[in-house]
Amino acid sequence: MAGDRAITFADLGDLPHTRNVITEAMRIRPAAWIFTRRSVAETELGGYRIPADADIVYSVYAMQRDPRSFERHLEFDPDRWVPERAADIPEFAMMPFSVGNRKCPGDHFSMAELALILGTVAPRWRLERVPETDSGTRVGITLHPKRLVLRVIPR
Ligand code: HEM
Repeated sequence: MAGDRAITFADLGDLPHTRNVITEAMRIRPAAWIFTRRSVAETELGGYRIPADADIVYSVYAMQRDPRSFERHLEFDPDRWVPERAADIPEFAMMPFSVGNRKCPGDHFSMAELALILGTVAPRWRLERVPETDSGTRVGITLHPKRLVLRVIPR
């Protein structure tokens, strides 16, 4: 909501906190958590020799929870993304859409969609977890909560 009216695409630039909440949620609970690459040539990475044509599996879940990159790494802290603080986060420590020429082409679309949804829902309703909720992580191709049941409370 922007005052009394529904938010639109044009409002998205004015919702930095909404965006920071989404970014922090994707940092600590990324849906896509394990990515792959193939080496085109022999190389060394982090002290390990990687031969040419090797399949490499890497996890943004681990990277985005790395205490070397994020202080209080397990804490949900949307304000870590305000520009003054985000400047201290190493480049590529956060990459929920991956990077490079195979990165997700839906990244900007997804961020806009998520901001529109959150910016529409959150000002009107509070979502409260009920006791049956099991917010442990169910691991599959994507990660999601084991059983997330929410009560919707008008604000
Ligand atoms: C929050 C939502 C989304 C997340 C977290 C996400 C994440 C990802 C990730 C991690 C990859 C693999 C990138 C790589 O290996 O370099 C990917 C690939 C891809 N995504 Fe998404 N994605 C999301 C939404 C979308 C949407 C909405 C679309 C389409 C409108 C989309 C289309 C694609 C396509 C076509 C690829 C394959 C790109 C390629 O192989 O060149 N994604 N996505």
